[in-house]
This record gives sequence, C-alpha cells and structure tokens, in this order.
Amino acid sequence: MADSEVDAGNVFPGNWDVVSETLLKTYELWFPQNWSPVDLPWQECDPKNFSSDEAVAQAYWLSKLALFEKSGIGAFGAAAVQAATHKFEDPTKKFLSAVAFDECRHDEVCRRACARVCPNFPYRFKPQTELEEKAHRNIMALYDNGRRYWSAFNQAWGKYPLELIFSSFFFAEIGAQLIFKEVGERSTNGVYSTAFRNITRDESRHLTGTLAMLERLAGEMSADQKGMITRQLKHGFIYLSPLLFKPMEDFWKLPPDFFEYDRKLEELAAASGLGVPKVEDRKDAWMKAISRHRSKIEDLGIPVPEIKEIGVEGLEVSVKKGEDIVATPL
Ligand SMILES: [Fe+2]
Ligand SMILES: [Fe+2]
Repeated sequence: MADSEVDAGNVFPGNWDVVSETLLKTYELWFPQNWSPVDLPWQECDPKNFSSDEAVAQAYWLSKLALFEKSGIGAFGAAAVQAATHKFEDPTKKFLSAVAFDECRHDEVCRRACARVCPNFPYRFKPQTELEEKAHRNIMALYDNGRRYWSAFNQAWGKYPLELIFSSFFFAEIGAQLIFKEVGERSTNGVYSTAFRNITRDESRHLTGTLAMLERLAGEMSADQKGMITRQLKHGFIYLSPLLFKPMEDFWKLPPDFFEYDRKLEELAAASGLGVPKVEDRKDAWMKAISRHRSKIEDLGIPVPEIKEIGVEGLEVSVKKGEDIVATPL
C-alpha cells in the first residue's frame, strides 16, 4: 500500500504540536472544572413535589434541551475524529473531545431529571392527558426534524473545508452560555440551579475555546470563506431557535399548535422551579449576547448576519424554506 493511502484519514502517527496556547489553556481548565451530575441533590427532584402537569412540563423542556445536547455529542465527537485524522494541532483534538464529553454530561442531567419527575419521558412515555399528549407530540416532532438536521450536518464533512465548519462552532456557544446562565439564575429547585450553574461554566469554556479556534483559522481564510461563515451563523440561529427563541419555519416543520403548547409547558416548568426564561426575555438576551461578541467577530473580517427576528443588524443572508441547515449545536 502506498504511503499516501495509509495517510488518508489516519490518526497515526498523530502529533503533540501546540499552535494555539489559548486553546491549550482553555482545554486544561476542563480538569479542575470537572463536575458530576450524579452528585446533584436529586432528592429535590421528587415528583411528589409537583403536579403531573408541572412534572411533564419540566420533562418537556429538558427533552427539548436534550435534542441540542445530543447533536452536540455527535457533532463534537465527529469533529474530534476529523481533527485527528486531518492532523490538527493537539489542543484542538483534545478540546473537541472534552466538549463532546461535556455534552454527554448535559444530556445526562436531562435524562436523570426526566427519569425522576416523569419516568419514561419521552421515548417510552404513554400520555394520559391532553397536555401530556401535546408535550410528547411536540418533542417527537422536534426529534423528527433533528434527523433532517443531522443528515445534512453529516454530509457537510465532505462538502466544506474542515476549517470552515470548525470556525462556526462558536456561535452556538454564545447562545448556550446565555440560556444556561438565565436558567441557572431563575431556577429555585436545587438540582436545576446547581446543574445549570455548572453547565454555564462548561459553556463559557466552550465559548472561549471555539473563539480561539475561530481566531486561529480565520487568519488564513479568503473573504469568500468568511462570507460562508456568516451564512453558517444564520443557519445556527435557525437551528437553535426552538430552544433560544421560537422555532423558525425556514427549517422547522412543526404542528400548527406547537408553539401554543410549547409556551404553556414552559410557563408551567418555570412556575415549578425550572427557570426557563420567557420567549420575550430570550429574544432580548440573545440579541445582547451576539452584540457583546460582535466587534470580535467583525475584527476578524467576518460579517455578522442580519437576524431581524431578534433585532440583530448585519449582512442580509437569504435562507430558502427547507434549505439544508449546516450549523453547530450546543
Ligand atoms: Fe451542552
Ligand atoms: Fe457547548
């Protein structure tokens, strides 16, 4: 076999190169900041403390969040393999693997909380009331759309340069850091307030690391490639919209009364100790979070896309209804 065949897509011989000191330092923080979802005060997540509507409402929001955590496990896990086979510097590989593990930890919080407050939700749940039926149907509709997202994302590896895909990772982290901070601060239940404070710290680390990746990779990009990043940021907004704002119909194909029940369930969850912010507050907070990072992105020559729905000004990017979304998850 020729050397070039052995080399194509091989993790060996590997390297221990350090190009980005910032990324190395960010990745190293993972060790002291490690935490265990097993050790949260789970006795506070007792279904006896909630009505059945409140219990399903909490499980509903956690299952919605879990969609994005699951795509995070897959995307960052796949990215780690891609980085290793394409000979990226060592901290990139290890940072991406650590993020994939963090996403497992976040999904684990969702799994454990659902198992306590509303056993079997959502995968093996048998709804008994209309609200339960709508909650379950909404989640299944979201997951069904998630399948479309994942197919397109998976194909992106062959279609776009790796640098381009990696460079857009930071956008979801801006949103993630924001939502979890809000949820942690508003939660009155000990499991949720502790879990989301820890998750916020994970997300801050993800944001620092993905911005370091962006900084390193954008330096070598053409204006055209930077324009493609702008497009991926708009895709990121659309993809994350059901969690961070409300579902954008450019991509999400959901039942007509989806949002009516989504709102109702989130209000019930918030009233019973899981601090989900209202949609108006999320809109405002997301706009502010993007504005906070705007100058950093623009200084790298990457135009911020216009996102009218939440009041973000920028470059107009048209996305056709039903267009494949290539965006990164939380
Ligand atoms: Fe996450
Ligand atoms: Fe993240």
